[in-house]
Amino acid sequence: MPHNIEELRRQTPGTAHLLHFNNAGAALNPTAVSTAVQEHLQREQRLGAYEAAALANTAIEHFYTAFARHLNCQAEEIAWAENTTHAWNTLLHAIAFKPGDRIVTGQSEYASNYLSLLHLAQTCQVHVDVVPNTAQGSLCLEALEKALEGNVRLLALTHVPSQSGVVHPAAQAGAMARARGILYLLDACQSAGQLALDVETLGCDMLTGSGRKYLRGPRGTGFLYVRRGVLDSLQPAWIDMHAASFRDAQHYALREDARRFENWECFVAGKIGLAVAVDYANALGMPWIEARVRTLAATLREQLRDVPGITVHESGNDLCGIVTFSSSREAADSLQQRLLARGINTSVVRLRNNPLDLGARGLGDLNRASVHYYNTDEEIERFCEALRNGR
Ligand SMILES: Cc1ncc(COP(=O)(O)O)c(C=O)c1O
Repeated sequence: MPHNIEELRRQTPGTAHLLHFNNAGAALNPTAVSTAVQEHLQREQRLGAYEAAALANTAIEHFYTAFARHLNCQAEEIAWAENTTHAWNTLLHAIAFKPGDRIVTGQSEYASNYLSLLHLAQTCQVHVDVVPNTAQGSLCLEALEKALEGNVRLLALTHVPSQSGVVHPAAQAGAMARARGILYLLDACQSAGQLALDVETLGCDMLTGSGRKYLRGPRGTGFLYVRRGVLDSLQPAWIDMHAASFRDAQHYALREDARRFENWECFVAGKIGLAVAVDYANALGMPWIEARVRTLAATLREQLRDVPGITVHESGNDLCGIVTFSSSREAADSLQQRLLARGINTSVVRLRNNPLDLGARGLGDLNRASVHYYNTDEEIERFCEALRNGR
């Protein structure tokens, strides 16, 4: 069902004075999300934080059912996390690697994930194999098939990278991993909230994401999914009184659900706010969101190609809301600052953080404009006009 964009923009106060093309950094919160967070903070101020949490129990518990609907899984398979990095590492370090195990990842793997893998290779004597991308920038499935032969314990992929608008073939990769009984950890930090995600279709065992990006939740929020069937093969690297309970003074039992990966203490207002954001996305419908984001980004790429001196860096036919480009006339940082001074938010992806991807493609720092469904064609025209009127 189509939605009224003007109404969605009214529910997004930031759009009244900003041209926000930094949704892959952090999207603008809808009023419903900011209000839910503020109301809970006020409850904490009035009643005391523990007492406020007891009162808000239904809203807090809703976090799990909202994500279960969003990802097509069970509420028991969802856990809270403060961000993707924490969620992803919590799961990585729950796998009992043995020296000699192999981990397969992709050329577009998120930089911090790849650093963690390199660290694990050093500390646990596992091997990390990087599957290259095709010339179009998406994970090469033939190379993946070869890489999955042998002693592979984990396939760790990023669905949509931070540094490109390519959507990697996560479901095909998932089918390959599942056929070989290989654990599959999918970083959905950039895809959650812009693409319709279904963990059954993706075939992943574990999936992680953040609230502040395309889901439009508060900062400092995130989530993880763990498939019920693999939960007991994973051992949390540490536990607390929320993740486990004492049987007696010498023995304990882990929680039966994915919350064994949580800590007791968390940002309660943020958790409530993220649940509201997920409800908001669920109500709009992820297929509608995905179609609109992809269409706007395609329009942006097309119009950018007509701006003198601008090169767009995505090709291929499965692209999303992230658009990377560079200017022959201006360095990435100075262009970003010039746009910011005009009330236009974008970001820069840096070569120093992406040696595997940007380095291999012979690229330097790139500008990144990332659109959401509340952006408009008129904003795209204004954006391209601002680039044209540059130096
Ligand atoms: C693909 C991807 N994975 C993981 C992360 C890390 O997310 P967080 O900063 O919430 O830990 C990011 C952040 O930009 C990202 O783009």
